[in-house]
Amino acid sequence: MTDPEIYPVPADLAARAHMDRAGYEAARIAARETPDAFWAQQARRLDWMSFPTKIKDVSFNKEDFRIRWFEDGVLNASVNCIDRHLPHRRDEVAIIWEGDEPTDSETVTFGQLHERVCRLANVLKANGVQKGDRVTIYLPMIPEAAYAMLACARIGAVHSVIFGGFSPDSIAGRIEDCQSTFVITADEGCRGGKKVPLKANVDKALEKVAGVKTVVVLRHTGTDVPFVEGRDLDWGVETDKASPDCAPEPMKAEDPLFILYTSGSTGKPKGVLHTTGGYLFWASYTHELVFDYRPGEVFWCTADVGWVTGHTYVVYGALANAATTLMFEGVPNYPTVSRFWEVVDKHQVNIFYTAPTALRALMRDGDAPVKASSRQSLRLLGTVGEPINPEAWRWYHEVVGEGRLPIVDTWWQTETGGALISPLPGATDLKPGSATKPLPGVELEIVDAEGAVLTGATEGNLCITDSWPGQMRTVYGDDQRFFETYFSTYPGKYFTGDGCRRDADGYYWITGRVDDVINVSGHRMGTAEVESALVLHDDVAEAAVVGFPHDIKGQGIYAYVTLNKGVEATDDLRKALVAQVREEIGPIAAPDVIQWAPGLPKTRSGKIMRRILRKIAENELGALGDTSTLADPSVVDDLVKNRAA
Ligand code: WT7
Repeated sequence: MTDPEIYPVPADLAARAHMDRAGYEAARIAARETPDAFWAQQARRLDWMSFPTKIKDVSFNKEDFRIRWFEDGVLNASVNCIDRHLPHRRDEVAIIWEGDEPTDSETVTFGQLHERVCRLANVLKANGVQKGDRVTIYLPMIPEAAYAMLACARIGAVHSVIFGGFSPDSIAGRIEDCQSTFVITADEGCRGGKKVPLKANVDKALEKVAGVKTVVVLRHTGTDVPFVEGRDLDWGVETDKASPDCAPEPMKAEDPLFILYTSGSTGKPKGVLHTTGGYLFWASYTHELVFDYRPGEVFWCTADVGWVTGHTYVVYGALANAATTLMFEGVPNYPTVSRFWEVVDKHQVNIFYTAPTALRALMRDGDAPVKASSRQSLRLLGTVGEPINPEAWRWYHEVVGEGRLPIVDTWWQTETGGALISPLPGATDLKPGSATKPLPGVELEIVDAEGAVLTGATEGNLCITDSWPGQMRTVYGDDQRFFETYFSTYPGKYFTGDGCRRDADGYYWITGRVDDVINVSGHRMGTAEVESALVLHDDVAEAAVVGFPHDIKGQGIYAYVTLNKGVEATDDLRKALVAQVREEIGPIAAPDVIQWAPGLPKTRSGKIMRRILRKIAENELGALGDTSTLADPSVVDDLVKNRAA
């Protein structure tokens, strides 16, 4: 049966988009049948110091596992994002910055970008940063975050950006994992009228981890922050002294460009490693195709550069395509819930890309705050981060887009580097709630729990059977974990961790994570990490964390906590536990619900049966399934009876 709700490709887009229906079909076939020729041709979109002759060298099998793209190519990512645009666009705007306060904004031309990136790159060099060294970046959404990333890319240093919402402990863990010796931060950030104490958080982190020799501090809000003699440098002072030119480091395509930490289903966050050639190519290719980007347009991706969406579509993909990219430091509801749409009008944004959670939050305030704006500059809308519920899709389409703008629902992951399943505005009819179809070169399979391939209209686990250039190359420092996490569940295939339905038209509908990862406001959270943070408390014996449906966040965090014998379950303790998680990981990991659990449902071998905990959290009490294999089935009755509201 075909879904009745279809939004066809608008005729004007079908006629003029970068890729139309026939182009899409042809590219799918070419990428599959003649990959080397196809990707070599596509790779010309980048500026290479030495064009690759080896294009694709890939095996997902254990014996000869390898993922290499454009292997003998040489390039520099910052040259692709800046220098190559200078001859035609030196005075055109590369970055529009919109501050937390509506009175604060600024533009940066490609010429200015070049100078500022080079100056900072020279500061890094002068302080001993060499090719391959890891540089930690902990900055707000300001142009300097892009300068810092590009300055690293210019000299071949590997950046590790940490989202400003992560705690000192999280910073310390990430610095330690990649043995970073250099940190770039700011005095403070501003979000929704509140200050974020970035420098203070870095100072606390560096009490817990050794090895950092230098901290460059940007004066952003200008508040007084203590400087550690011999360690801390003032960004402004140092870059003023530095030369405005810095020769770009020639990088092999497979040289790492960055590490970005993301939560997994077990243990500590993984350092997802992306490369210079394949990643940059995929960022640029997908930015152009998915958003049908044309030079001169203003592109606004609301994601923070602390997440992969910010890396790929605020910085690398956008700038590689000479886009004018908008960076917004604030939040959607400050000073009012019209802020997004005011910014659209103020900067004449053409393409707007955000997360379903933001749309759901704004929807609650009705249509008036949207309708108070013009939005006539908008040409295309996008979403990312989690499945978008059809209700939010329709609101986005009808109210924000006045029924005239296509919506690209882009499915991807930190690991994939850029979008893999997405409509192409000129080629794909839309269905609300579906990320639609794979991009050229993306070979999907849906398998059952045993790995049997399911064909036709079906539902199961989403796998990818062949590599694409933007694929992550390893977990930093742990090739074994990389292979085990992604390629061992279904041998020979990359397992996404997502459940997925395919309809009779071949459209893909992501149903959510099938592993112990929850998606909170479009951000991935490992349940194991939250559990570890909870059990650090002296009064806690054990904790189990699951996701549950949350109106705004998509999924909320539901924690079952068993206290030590004799400890009283008080509201103060509940607050202390939430505070502990904020402290250990960051505010985004704070549990929404804590239920006291005298016991957890375990099998006789001691394994916690999360399926049951999920059902209780979801309030699907009739669907608890078979509990007879539990060591003590009576614990379930107690959990149901005392279910937190
Ligand atoms: C997980 C990846 C890609 C950048 C943001 C999140 C979910 C992402 C969609 C979408 C349905 C989506 C998946 C995926 N997800 N986009 N359009 N429709 N689900 O990156 O933190 O690496 O999380 O987010 O579950 O596996 P991430």
